[in-house]
Amino acid sequence: MVTLVHDNLEQTDAKMSARDVSVYYGSKKAIDEVSIDIPTDYVTAFIGPSGCGKSTFLRTMNRMNDTIASARVEGEIELDGQNIYNPKLDVVQLRARVGMVFQKPNPFPKSIYENIAYGPKIHGLADGKTELDEIVERSLTRAGLWNEVKDRLDDSGTALSGGQQQRLCIARAIAVDPEVILMDEPCSALDPIATAKIEELISELHGRYAIVIVTHSMQQAARVSQRTAFFHLGKIVEYGRTSDIFTNPKEQKTQDYITGRYG
Ligand SMILES: Nc1ncnc2c1ncn2[C@@H]1O[C@H](COP(=O)(O)OP(=O)(O)OP(=O)(O)O)[C@@H](O)[C@H]1O
Ligand SMILES: [Mg+2]
Repeated sequence: MVTLVHDNLEQTDAKMSARDVSVYYGSKKAIDEVSIDIPTDYVTAFIGPSGCGKSTFLRTMNRMNDTIASARVEGEIELDGQNIYNPKLDVVQLRARVGMVFQKPNPFPKSIYENIAYGPKIHGLADGKTELDEIVERSLTRAGLWNEVKDRLDDSGTALSGGQQQRLCIARAIAVDPEVILMDEPCSALDPIATAKIEELISELHGRYAIVIVTHSMQQAARVSQRTAFFHLGKIVEYGRTSDIFTNPKEQKTQDYITGRYG
């Protein structure tokens, strides 16, 4: 594991490190030489105005940009010191280690049980039905959903409420034993109560997984994260302790954004 010292931050272990990462869509540069270390033990928030590249950068971290034909990634991204863009790397395996939760809950049109069991099955994580049952229960419990669904595991995942669907998607990510969970505005389609539940869940999961969350809500970033990166026009303008970014930013642009002067 790489050990890092950030200016003004205590020494931490980096789960992931990006070095000089640029992303192009065709000839348009959407991310411009971004470098950042994602710590193991913290929740990291990505904030910044619409179109600044938060989702694009997040997608580089588990190679989801591979699915966009026009996207091209330059630079290096390491997971535990290993280059995730190594052509020999198994991308399916990578996405199990670096899971993703999207803005809009996207359960499979299958039963609640199958939504969770599918990943462990294809990754060979369960030895038989009993073990698979255990993984399903543990993942749903960890995602704070077990009590609500334990009597209806055969119902379709799509029959759940939006907030429940999003917790199902988090449980699905957890089921394959990830090391990092990337969340792109996971609460933007949810009401305040469902949002509060997801925030609570993030706080509970923190420490067990490295978590990165993109959010437009500065209150949310302040509540759930310990580190914040402020993106602007494809660059990281400022990265540091969440409390410093929100109370004592070093850059004028960060100050302008957090005080609502633009964005
Ligand atoms: N699939 C794509 N093809 C071409 N351009 C894209 C694509 N996805 C994003 N872009 C462009 O890349 C830039 C960054 O977009 P991105 O979606 O990463 O921003 P964002 O910070 O996540 O914005 P938002 O807060 O609105 O979600 C924008 O100019 C956007 O138009
Ligand atoms: Mg986005």
